[in-house]
Amino acid sequence: MANNLLEGKRGIISGALDENSIAWKVALKAKEQGASFVLTNAPIALRMGAINKLAEQCNAEIIPADATSVEDIENLFSKSTEVLGGKLDFVLHSIGMSPNVRKGKDYGDLNYDWMLKSMDISAISFHKMMAVAEKQDAMNEWGSILALSYIAAQRTFPDYSDMAQAKAMLESIARSYGERFARLKNVRVNTISQSPTMTTAGSGVGGFDVFMDYADKMSPLGNASADACADYCVSMFSDLTRMVTMQNLMHDGGFSSSGITERLVEQLKK
Ligand SMILES: NC(=O)c1ccc[n+]([C@@H]2O[C@H](COP(=O)([O-])OP(=O)(O)OC[C@H]3O[C@@H](n4cnc5c(N)ncnc54)[C@H](O)[C@@H]3O)[C@@H](O)[C@H]2O)c1
Repeated sequence: MANNLLEGKRGIISGALDENSIAWKVALKAKEQGASFVLTNAPIALRMGAINKLAEQCNAEIIPADATSVEDIENLFSKSTEVLGGKLDFVLHSIGMSPNVRKGKDYGDLNYDWMLKSMDISAISFHKMMAVAEKQDAMNEWGSILALSYIAAQRTFPDYSDMAQAKAMLESIARSYGERFARLKNVRVNTISQSPTMTTAGSGVGGFDVFMDYADKMSPLGNASADACADYCVSMFSDLTRMVTMQNLMHDGGFSSSGITERLVEQLKK
């Protein structure tokens, strides 16, 4: 479905680790819609090498950056505008990691240094990216900046642990920086709150497959796939959504508005 929605647009796409990554699908769809962009990920993730295949497919350069390092982000933005030949129209923040989740820490026994790391990687990095973009005047007027969130920011899902706090902060940063960037450059800033999706980050959460099944049955349209999420990201990068900003946009097949569904009742009756 190539409509050239992103013809002539330049951007940065972070977080493509492997073919399952949401960012991987966004890159493919953005390419299909005529965008040119730079891919980025943490140096340690780049060593896995899968991203080279995507870079080749998208004719994109890879610029390593640890999203917690302002220096790396400065280098990312200045090199990106150089490589792409102008200011940016879109940025995707598709980054999340909690050492507490990864190492199976109980919520009542969190390692607080790790908790700070979760916040830094998964939320504050979004602020860092936008602050660098602002200081370098790297965004074009009416550009679009997006991060990926999850409904654990609003409701409790026990195994999501401190990532719930990270997502709440991420969404709050989108509102605060959204106001600022709108005023400065008419740039819009939003988060997309995506259904549970089978990726490396997703499957790190305990009981994930059971939970995916529950979410699917609680969503009248079923779980939104990574591909569908990529379509939504593309529409948010396009000129068709110029007046949408400071929003947390639910992309969840109706999960967030459902009390219960017939499919779930049927299952519970068994
Ligand atoms: N999978 C889900 O169920 C789900 C649901 C809602 C939201 N999300 C969010 O979507 C985003 C993308 O995750 P995904 O599901 O595609 O999984 P993923 O594991 O493919 O992507 C996460 C990415 O974060 C990167 N990353 C981690 N630490 C980093 C650092 N210090 N610097 C730079 N990059 C770093 C990883 O290398 C990886 O590419 C995350 O924000 C995640 O929380 C995922």
